[in-house]
Amino acid sequence: MSKTLYILNGPNLNLLGNREPEIYGAKTLNDIEADCRAFAKDAGYDIIFKQSNIEGEIVNHIQDAGSNAAGLIINPAAYTHTSVAIHDALKAIDIPCVEIHLSQPAKRESFRQISFVSQAVTGTISGFGANSYILGLQALINLLRK
Ligand code: DQA
Repeated sequence: MSKTLYILNGPNLNLLGNREPEIYGAKTLNDIEADCRAFAKDAGYDIIFKQSNIEGEIVNHIQDAGSNAAGLIINPAAYTHTSVAIHDALKAIDIPCVEIHLSQPAKRESFRQISFVSQAVTGTISGFGANSYILGLQALINLLRK
């Protein structure tokens, strides 16, 4: 089985560190990537880590993960609440997928209460800041070891 995990990040997550730090925390996406790589390496996995502001590019990355990876973590950011294309791409691949969010969308504006992604993933982790990524990796790796 592949020892590669994909971690995909949607729009505006390239601005982490500066973007509404009271909601999303002080870590940059590079900091989060480094933390994820270290955690995955200890567990014997490689990471392919991507960010895109473009919906179709995220769909392409999901399809690539379906061909090359053992599992996928995705923070679809604002596309969580709008994207049928990302929902369909996740449904089309046959690897475990974990949806993660830094914030807790359930506590926020009403337009964040719907996730088009949740119906297409194995599970969701949200509200733990940057640690949501590590908790997501832990969940995914545990699942893959079963
Ligand atoms: C987010 C939550 C989304 O509602 C928002 O659009 C984001 C980030 C999070 O990680 O908390 O961009 O996915």
